[in-house]
Amino acid sequence: MRITTSTTAPERAAADMLAVAVGRPASLTGAAAAVDAAMGGAIARLVDAGEIRGGRGQVTVVHADGGVRAKRVAVVGLGRSPGPAELRLAAAGAVRAASAARAKSVAFALDGAPLDAAGATRCVVDGAALAGYRFTRYLTAPADERPGEVGSLAILGGDRAQARLSAVLTEATNRARDLQNTPSRDMGPQELADRARQLAKEHSTLTARVHDRAWMERRGMGLFVAVAQGSSRPPLTIVLRHRPRRARAGVVLGLVGKGLTYDAGGYTLKPARSQIGMKFDMSGAAAVLEATGAIAELGLPIEVVTVIGATENLIGRDAFKNDDILTAANGKTVEITNTDAEGRLVLADCLHHARSLGATHVVDLATLTGAVVTALGDLHAGLFVRGEEFAGAIQSAADVSGDMVWRLPLHDTYKRFLRSEVADMVNGSFAGRGGPCYAARFLQEFAGEGDWAHLDIAGVAELDRSRGDEFGKGGTGWGVRLLTELARSMAA
Ligand code: BES
Ligand code: MN
Ligand code: ZN
Repeated sequence: MRITTSTTAPERAAADMLAVAVGRPASLTGAAAAVDAAMGGAIARLVDAGEIRGGRGQVTVVHADGGVRAKRVAVVGLGRSPGPAELRLAAAGAVRAASAARAKSVAFALDGAPLDAAGATRCVVDGAALAGYRFTRYLTAPADERPGEVGSLAILGGDRAQARLSAVLTEATNRARDLQNTPSRDMGPQELADRARQLAKEHSTLTARVHDRAWMERRGMGLFVAVAQGSSRPPLTIVLRHRPRRARAGVVLGLVGKGLTYDAGGYTLKPARSQIGMKFDMSGAAAVLEATGAIAELGLPIEVVTVIGATENLIGRDAFKNDDILTAANGKTVEITNTDAEGRLVLADCLHHARSLGATHVVDLATLTGAVVTALGDLHAGLFVRGEEFAGAIQSAADVSGDMVWRLPLHDTYKRFLRSEVADMVNGSFAGRGGPCYAARFLQEFAGEGDWAHLDIAGVAELDRSRGDEFGKGGTGWGVRLLTELARSMAA
């Protein structure tokens, strides 16, 4: 979607569809009033008839018939308490209505919308660009038999810098969604590595290094290597580094992503229904990859080191087993009591590697536990964080970006569930309670010293049904916006 800003008056904007916002109760102000006047009161009549109520997410399309320059007007509702979420939803509604009408260009008038121009611009671009996303790679029907694609969005009265920022962020988010939505057959460790190399080719501040199994064995990454043993596809440790010419001194942001391109559970095999959707177990990797790309594209003055553990967790002749005892890169030993608790094993060795590359602040993203979905649902990721200042930075980045988090406890009490008789710890507890907290406490054993945050994104990375917002079903690219925003706030 091509995104521009302009100062054109709404009545004079040339577009297939012009969107104007109204709150509830519907009273026509700003652009809605100007457009209504130009159309001889056509919108006011629909308000009087009770057809336009300004409800949250309500969209009413009216043909302009020459009253204004645009072909159609979409009146989008903001509800009773308009805010960022309502504005994103309104923009999403405008784009969906445009797509249904096969309108190719949309102009969104900010006059009458909540927030200041900068904040509103960001929400409108986010809502429009995220709602305009489609995963079409495997569709064979000709394009004209599918819903139309909106090619351009002009924000009337928009802020140029914010429009560009949001365009970069949403494009990166949508690329992460493509990576997520692609099934493991076509999105294995190799394909993730290819994407890292491609990013490095596109951005001069980025370098990509891809390490194979032999390298991992030499580094003693026994946990990661064991998980990979059931798959015929070689595991890869993917490292992307952003080293801008000017960067804040003494700070290296480490981003670690779980890249399980398929998680069948291994010998602790998942039941059939739980296997569906496990192509999404690389969502953490997709997010940190594309966030690193966005950070480079924005030229943020902060050093970033991104580490991805990419492999599959399958049953196989050589697959690791329950009762195995493994040694991690940091020397600690782990007794395997559940081969399906593989994410923490891969992350453990990757966290250690990120620290060894000098990361001062580390954030890991992982679809780690089904229990976080039970606890928090599909809107908030579980946030576990050590370092109160860092916690505040992440919360602020979440607030600004729209990727929401909810803090959960990181506490030594959960070590009770880690006890093993024969090794330093077990990987899977049968405690049956506090699963996300226990998993986070496991990771802490490998997170080294200093600020660290773990985001359990199992509930938010992928939606198996729409939440009724700018995202539909499928991958959400959760974390691309949050991580880039975090890097912005930490940069020099
Ligand atoms: N990838 C799964 C977590 C998951 C579950 C993500 C549902 C998305 C939706 C992870 O590897 C896993 O299997 N976790 C186990 C942990 C347990 C064995 C301690 C789980 O949640 O059941
Ligand atoms: Mn698993
Ligand atoms: Zn998993």
